[in-house]
Amino acid sequence: MSDILITSMQQRHIGALAELEKICFGALAWNEQALADELTNDTAHFLVLEKSGEAIGYIGTFVVVDSCYVSNIGILPQYRRQGFASVLMESACKEAFSLGARSISLEVRPSNTAAISLYKKLGFEEIGLRRGFYREPKEDALILNLDLTAEKYGQSEINKNT
Ligand SMILES: CC(C)(COP(=O)(O)OP(=O)(O)OC[C@H]1O[C@@H](n2cnc3c(N)ncnc32)[C@H](O)[C@@H]1OP(=O)(O)O)[C@@H](O)C(=O)NCCC(=O)NCCS
Repeated sequence: MSDILITSMQQRHIGALAELEKICFGALAWNEQALADELTNDTAHFLVLEKSGEAIGYIGTFVVVDSCYVSNIGILPQYRRQGFASVLMESACKEAFSLGARSISLEVRPSNTAAISLYKKLGFEEIGLRRGFYREPKEDALILNLDLTAEKYGQSEINKNT
């Protein structure tokens, strides 16, 4: 994994991440403008995973006081099942903890078995359901939550300046 870098999202990532969004989320993909808007949002903390300089995955989170919310996570299809989403989520949890968050939550489609398996493996638990939350196609959302402990997430290691 020496060719792997996790870094804060920067302007240079925006084009590649908009493409990644289309591949991962189709009609519901965030476009370049939506992603670029988060560069100047103080509550947004988006991390990009680069492999040999290519942006192959990313995670978007928002931290407000002691809560973190995951808005986006995606890995290019050819790089899936290699632990990259797990690494990104662990990094986001550490960064969120360092910013004061003590829990992290997200929504997921009940049909998204890959993502649910990932979250459960990381310790997330179901805490609720939002009826009709998703569109295209319409679907409920499971709400998942993970408590962030100092023991597990007390050390941040994000590269902020590259
Ligand atoms: C969900 C997603 C982010 C997972 O990324 P990933 O890098 O493949 O995940 P990891 O390699 O870290 O997987 C960790 C664990 O999650 C589970 N998992 C991941 N993908 C899975 C799949 N397709 N089927 C079953 N379990 C899966 C496994 O337990 C896996 O561990 P293992 O490979 O040792 O069995 C990726 O499939 C993706 O980008 N999907 C499209 C976008 C999306 O749905 N995002 C989530 C929106 S809520």
